[in-house]
Amino acid sequence: MADIKLQIVDREGGRHEIEAPTDMNMNLMEIVRTYELAPEGTIGVCGGMVMCASCQCYVNSNHPLPEKTDEEEAMLSEAFYVKENSRLGCQIPITAELEGLDVELAPES
Ligand code: FES
Repeated sequence: MADIKLQIVDREGGRHEIEAPTDMNMNLMEIVRTYELAPEGTIGVCGGMVMCASCQCYVNSNHPLPEKTDEEEAMLSEAFYVKENSRLGCQIPITAELEGLDVELAPES
């Protein structure tokens, strides 16, 4: 088991330091759901298919992240509350390089 620590700010502004496994093929959206940091049905609505943007988050640290796919770019171009550092959580796999990642959940839309 290799866990990393993540900082996640929920939609009410509460900050959580949580541990996420790097060996379970999970993504950030699934971690947020696992820890119930957002109410059921408000995050991960499409199940990580890049079709809903409910998993949008703002990445506040400088970690190396995978490039956005065309699908992610397209989804974010239609989403609300998008900022420079917006990403879709379901497109961020949990890897050892993300130790200390600092993200904030975007408002529900
Ligand atoms: S869960 Fe729907 S786009 Fe990420």
